[in-house]
Parts: sequence; C-alpha cells; structure tokens
Amino acid sequence: MVKTFWTLLVGLVLAFGAAAENGYRLWLRYDKIGDAAMLVQYQERIQGYRFFGESPTLQVAKKELEMALAGLLGNLPSGGSNQVIIGKKTDLPQLSGIAISLKTKDLDKEGFAIFTHQENTIITANDDAGVLYGVFHFLRLLQTQQEISNLNILEKPKLDRRILNHWDNLDRTVERGYAGFSIWNWHTLPEYLDPSYTDYARANASIGINGTVLTNVNANALVLRPDYLEKVKVLADLFRPYNIKVYLTARFSAPIELGGLATADPLDPAVQQWWKEKADEIYRLVPDFGGFVVKANSEGQPGPQVYGRSHADGANLLADALAPHGGIVMWRAFVYSAEDATDRHKQAYNEFVPLDGNFRPNVMVQVKNGPIDFQPREPAHPIFGAMPKTPLMMEFQITQEYLGQGTHLVYLAPMWKEVLDFDIDGKGSTVASSLLPTGQASIPQTSSLTGIAGVANIGNDINWTGYHFGQANWYAFGRLAWNSDLSSEKIAEEWLRMTFSNKKTVVETLKTLMLASHETCVNYMTPLGLHHLMATGHHYGPGPWIGDLSRPEWNPTYYHRADEKGVGFDRTATGSNAISQYSPAVQAIFSSRQHCPEKYLLWFHHVGWGEKLASGKTLWEELCRRYYQGATDVADMRRSWQSLKKEVDEQRFQEVDMMLQIQEKEAKWWRDACLTYFQTFSKMEIPEGFEKPAHDLDFYKKLDYPYAPGH
Ligand code: GCU
Repeated sequence: MVKTFWTLLVGLVLAFGAAAENGYRLWLRYDKIGDAAMLVQYQERIQGYRFFGESPTLQVAKKELEMALAGLLGNLPSGGSNQVIIGKKTDLPQLSGIAISLKTKDLDKEGFAIFTHQENTIITANDDAGVLYGVFHFLRLLQTQQEISNLNILEKPKLDRRILNHWDNLDRTVERGYAGFSIWNWHTLPEYLDPSYTDYARANASIGINGTVLTNVNANALVLRPDYLEKVKVLADLFRPYNIKVYLTARFSAPIELGGLATADPLDPAVQQWWKEKADEIYRLVPDFGGFVVKANSEGQPGPQVYGRSHADGANLLADALAPHGGIVMWRAFVYSAEDATDRHKQAYNEFVPLDGNFRPNVMVQVKNGPIDFQPREPAHPIFGAMPKTPLMMEFQITQEYLGQGTHLVYLAPMWKEVLDFDIDGKGSTVASSLLPTGQASIPQTSSLTGIAGVANIGNDINWTGYHFGQANWYAFGRLAWNSDLSSEKIAEEWLRMTFSNKKTVVETLKTLMLASHETCVNYMTPLGLHHLMATGHHYGPGPWIGDLSRPEWNPTYYHRADEKGVGFDRTATGSNAISQYSPAVQAIFSSRQHCPEKYLLWFHHVGWGEKLASGKTLWEELCRRYYQGATDVADMRRSWQSLKKEVDEQRFQEVDMMLQIQEKEAKWWRDACLTYFQTFSKMEIPEGFEKPAHDLDFYKKLDYPYAPGH
C-alpha cells in the first residue's frame, strides 16, 4: 500500500498546485516548460491534436498526450491550425498517401514515423504499438526541449523482446531488491488494482519495454495455480494496451508440486501432457501470454539434469507446450556446479555450446553479460557468438546487487555498452550484433527471435527504485534495449532533462558525474579485473578474506588467488585456460600480459605485486592508486551534487545528498578493507601521500550486516 498512499498524496498535492518531489513521477513529469522562448515556439507548433482510431492502445496514447501537453504547454487554443495528427497509417486521412507509405514501409509492428507535413506534425505507424511509442518519443522531444519544427524521424527497435525480469517472490520479498517490497500485491489481486501498476506500464511503454516477467527466477510453482493465474490475468489485461506482455518463471518441478506427478522428467509423456494442459489453461486466461523464463539445475533449482536429461530436453519440453500458442521459452545459461571442478568461468559455455542446434525454434538461451555473475566489471560472456543456431538473449542486471545495491550512485549504461560493443572476433562483430537475426548480424544467427532482459530494480518505494538515480538505470535499460547504438551520454542527458532539469549547468554537471560513476565504483570495489570480493549472502560489503564456504566457487579467495607472489586468476593456457573459449583474436589479446587491457588484467592473469604496469607503477602501487582514486572520486561526486543545491528541489536534493554521504563512507570501507587484506600478502606499505586505513583488518572482518536487504 505504500505507493497507493503516496499516489493519492501526489494527486492531492498536484491538485493544489505544488508537486511533491518524491520521485514518483519518474521521467514522466510534464511540468510546464520553463524556457519562455521555447514555450512560445511549441505553442505555435502545437495548437491542437487529432487522434484517428479507437483501440485501447490508442486510447492510452491519447490520454498520455493530453495529460502531457496540458502540463508542458498549458491550455491549447481551440481551433488552432497547427495540429499533431496521430494514428495508424491505415486510419489517417489521405494527407499525403505516398509520403506516409514511404515513411512507414520498413517500420514493422513497433516502429513509428514522426514528420512535419505542411503546418502539421504527423505521428504514424503500421500498428497501434508503434503509434504509442511514437507519442512517447514526441513527448520526449518536448520534455528535453528539442527543435520540432522540421521533423523527419523513423525509428524501430533493434530487438523484438525487451523485457524486465522481476526477481519478485509471491510473499512480496524481492531477491536482490533494494527498493522495498514487490510492487505486485498478490494478496489483493485480482480485485485490487493498485494505481502504480498503470504508472509502471506507462513508464515502461515510454522507453519501449514490451514484456515483464512477474516472478523470481528462483521460482515458486504456486504462480501456476489457477487462483494465481487469475491474478496474472488481470495484470496482463492492464498491461496489454501498453504493448506489454506478461511472462512467468516456470519451476521445473511444478508437475510434481502442483500436478501430483511422481516425476518432472521432460521425456515422460505424463509430464509433457501436464505442461501442455498448463499452457492451454494459461492461454485461455491470457491469450497473448509471452512465455516462460527458466532457471534450471542452477543454485539448487530443479531441472532436467536430475533425470539425466539435457538443458535442451528441458527447454524443449516447455517450448512444445507453448508453441501452439506462440509462446517462447527463455532458458537461462546461468549455471555452475560445485561438482564440476573446472573454473566457474568455463561452465556455462561447456554445458551450452555443445547443445547449439538442439533447441526448438521458440527457445532463446538467456545469457548474463559476463561469465561469472553481474560483477562490477566482467569481460563479455564467451557464449556470445558461439551458438549461431540458437537465438541468444542478453541478460543485464539493473538492480545493483554487486554495485552498491540501493545506496550507490552508479549509472550502468557505460558498463552495458562495454559488453554490447565488445568485439567478439577481432573483426568488429560485436556482442550486440550477435543478438540480431541472420542478415543483420555479422555473426549469423539462424533464428528471427531476438531479445534482451534486465533484472528489475523496482519495488514499492515511493520513488520506485529506492534511490532517485536508480531510475536512470531502468530508463537506460529500456533505451538501450530499443537501440543499443545510443550512447550512454545521450541516454543520461535525456533522463536528466526529463527527471531533473533542462538547465545546462544541471545537465552538464550531472552527466559528467553519471558517466564517470561506473568506473569510480569499479575503482573502489574491484579495480584491475578483480571480481567477486563481496561478503557472503547479501553481497553488500567487502569480504575478500572469505575462503571457508562449502562450495569453492562461492569464496572470494577462489577468484583473487592472492598469495605472497601476487594476485589474480590465471585463466591463460598455464592456468584454467578459460581464455580458450574466446575467438583466436580475443584470445591473443587477453592471453598476452602486454595487450590484455588493464581493466581485465587480474581476471585473466596472476600478476606479481612488484610487476610494473603501463603507468610505470608496480601492481601494488597501481592497485592502491585505483582504490584511493575511487574513494576520492565519490567525494568529488558529492561536491558536484552540492554545487546544484539551488537548481534541484529540496526533497530530492537532500535525499541524494544523504545517499552520497553513505556512498562516500562505503567507498572508503571497500578501499580500506580490501587493501588491508591484500597487504597481508604484498607486505608492502600503502604508498606515501595516501591516508592510512582507519582500522586494522580484524575490524573489517568483524563487520556484520545481518539485515542488509535483498537476500
Ligand atoms: C546471483 C544472485 C542470486 C540469483 C542468481 C541468478 O547469484 O545472487 O540471488 O538468484 O544470481 O541469476 O539466478
């Protein structure tokens, strides 16, 4: 109810004229344009609007446009001549038939055209969804104060499935969630529709997200029970006009747990029949149900290997049940096993690449961006480009499990771009292109299914993401899912203009701050390719000393391998040889001590403490320099933020400032805990000029956070 209460409050406050700046409105604020010249220009250009078509999608588009224009521009004159004309191509009057058909020819179902035609602005598309996206795009132009007098825009998404994955449990706890409880109130569904569900749909539609997986990958079979499916149905009905499909996670053992069968073996006819009937039941309620996400044989989840079957057998079982209805399976490649003594980096590749070609056409394999687990920085997962017969889906984590969780300002677009732009074969074939179908990709993929998933950072906190700047990552995910060519800078600028201010000082100061924030976080947590240094369970703070967990690959010591000689995981041919999973061109770069980018150095090499790096400094000196740089940069971030005190509303100013205070403290904590620990191996002093850590190692080891959120 938290958000319900706040929604009402926001409504009341709005009705009385002054906005509560609690962040609830996200980037869809629609306050009156402050720049007087700009306002006049827009008011001249937009003297009215006409909608053609009546579908539910067009109705929500119309409502949004009405609300936005009233807010941004104030009352429109009646009977003005310069109109915004909106509708599907087939519904628009023959303004200029030829021009319109040319413009919409290649737009598929979700693309749109926005163009100036005589005195009017036309927003059109082949389909309703495209019109909706066109309206949001047009509003973004106004919100970010762009020139609109001579428009000629054609846009369509590069990937078809642009999906949020909620790791939300049915009891409303959220795995790795730092923004309160789940927004899905299963208890009051299906009758009670919280207004935030609609605002959630609006926000997603505004950035092109067209799917939502409602439930945690660590799945609960209950969501497939008839009473829960009724709840799913009402959410699907609510989201449909916004072009958002609903998906669920499928627990592989559901036929046993719900169906009372003795087995969940994918080759057992009774199991196959159970899933077929379950799919039929779901589609009776939700005719456009998207499909299932499955985490199988990973971290204790059931799966086909329990029955000696492969991941392909498991995925195909569900795919066959969904296929008659047009549904898909997103089978996750996030698997690693304690029984497999090989480097965890290699396990998913080893299990999945041999299965290429064995999956049904409606299966996508969903692959995390890197081979370990959403670390502050990882090289791209070697599976990308290695399964040409299987459509691969990128999985990013928007929630900041390993990047400061709910309290650190870390803008993730640069990190995602680093992976999407990663050159797989040394010839410019990027990870982004490996997600595309044949004909568009330089590495051909034989399926036309394309997609990208982002693990949501949304909860029932009033500002949705717990931290105002967490909203930027939700926004950036959607924008990159739509077009991975967009720059991190452009996305940050859009978001800032819509969320905070169009004033140059605000935009420039915060853009600089955001763009540097990922590198800063990497510096104070895991510089030079270090990874998996976090404490156990909640993954909140540093714990590089941990080495006693039951599974070897759960221990930070497994990953950093610090000893008297040096630090880092040798993944070259002299070590685990995980490098062999990359293309020869990439291998050549990563395996060479000279050419391996320093950002991945300790990911692939065990380097001596006294070895010299490119800077001329020893590894130890460079490690210290980066850790200190990271902490110093956070202090600078806070100073930058404080310079904007007069430009930002009081509430959000204070809230962000308090968060930056936490981040400043925690950056030092990460730095000091990690360096005092690594110092026990390097036996070297913290270089002159750096303040000494405040405490000894024992102090950091004893810190304990039993109630850190997100477990
Ligand atoms: C990480 C995370 C888990 C999550 C898992 C997954 O290991 O800590 O909470 O379940 O990833 O992606 O399945």
